[in-house]
Amino acid sequence: MSLEIKNLKVYYQTLRGQVKALDDISFKINDGDILGLAGESGCGKSTFSNSLILLKAPMKYIGGEVFLDGKKLPVENYEKMKEKRYKDISIIPQYALNAMNPTVKIGKYIHDVFAYKNFSYKGVDNELKRRLKIVGLDEGILNMYPIELSGGMKQRMVMVIATLMNPSLLIADEITSALDVSTQKAVSKMLVEFRDKKFVKSIIFVTHDVSVLYQIADKILIMYAGKFAEIGPAEKIIHNPRHVYTKLLVKAMPEVGIKFSDTPLTGIPGHPPLLIDPPEGCRFIDRCPEKMKECVKEPPVIKVGEDHYVACWKEVKKNA
Ligand SMILES: Nc1ncnc2c1ncn2[C@@H]1O[C@H](COP(=O)(O)OP(=O)(O)OP(=O)(O)O)[C@@H](O)[C@H]1O
Ligand SMILES: [Mg+2]
Repeated sequence: MSLEIKNLKVYYQTLRGQVKALDDISFKINDGDILGLAGESGCGKSTFSNSLILLKAPMKYIGGEVFLDGKKLPVENYEKMKEKRYKDISIIPQYALNAMNPTVKIGKYIHDVFAYKNFSYKGVDNELKRRLKIVGLDEGILNMYPIELSGGMKQRMVMVIATLMNPSLLIADEITSALDVSTQKAVSKMLVEFRDKKFVKSIIFVTHDVSVLYQIADKILIMYAGKFAEIGPAEKIIHNPRHVYTKLLVKAMPEVGIKFSDTPLTGIPGHPPLLIDPPEGCRFIDRCPEKMKECVKEPPVIKVGEDHYVACWKEVKKNA
């Protein structure tokens, strides 16, 4: 098994109190899996991604454990995690496109990253050039400034840097959100290729766009307001979702060829709760069209199929 998350809780310490952005998440992914992580803006996707690698103030580790390839990751210790970055686990953070220093040539930037990490740049130089070719970039790019690259080129560049040391897990946070549809497809396809070529063992692909996930993910995890909602094979999540929230999220996906004036997009009325003071029990309760009296209590996670788990009282009652 590649990654196991057990009851992970990470809050933000703010002047107004604690923001419960990641509140008791547990799941597993297998070697070779591409896991899609989806949910509305603010549900905790980036908090989760960063907590596995960049957990620092105002983020605060509250509890839980993370195992990568069977070994416990010291996620609560930022300094210790620095040693793991790039080698065992790598992240392409949200807004990474703007993170490269605009005044430093790309080749020098990579060199500096590797020097900082005490990795041998010489040792990876040939591999770097080989991988640039694989993603369709000329090695001349190393002599260019980030500003000279298009969004798609930068994204492929960042992917190559993040995976150069063959980490076990790559977390890609909204890496396609700023790109046009065909570049999105190309970048997503490249991620699959990186997995197939074993540059990375498994991938967590984060997006609020469920339709992009369906094209590349083996499994999909849905979060709502800092909580686990549902995980299952991509096919099941799209065609047979079990959590009421997942059903509404999937229904809100636009279909090509359908005019808004003929079939208005449904959307999900209302807003997620503020995570500084979320409701007790199911956090979807205020927006749920199918809520029941049990929903004021925390829903247990139950198995509803092979590799398919859900935290929704409706399913609990159905399976009782
Ligand atoms: N530095 C911070 N201080 C306080 N609260 C924060 C901070 N960063 C994020 N949050 C809160 O944590 C929650 C989760 O935010 P997060 O960025 O993880 O969401 P997300 O799912 O990645 O959203 P998006 O799809 O917009 O990227 C939100 O309620 C947000 O307001
Ligand atoms: Mg985010």
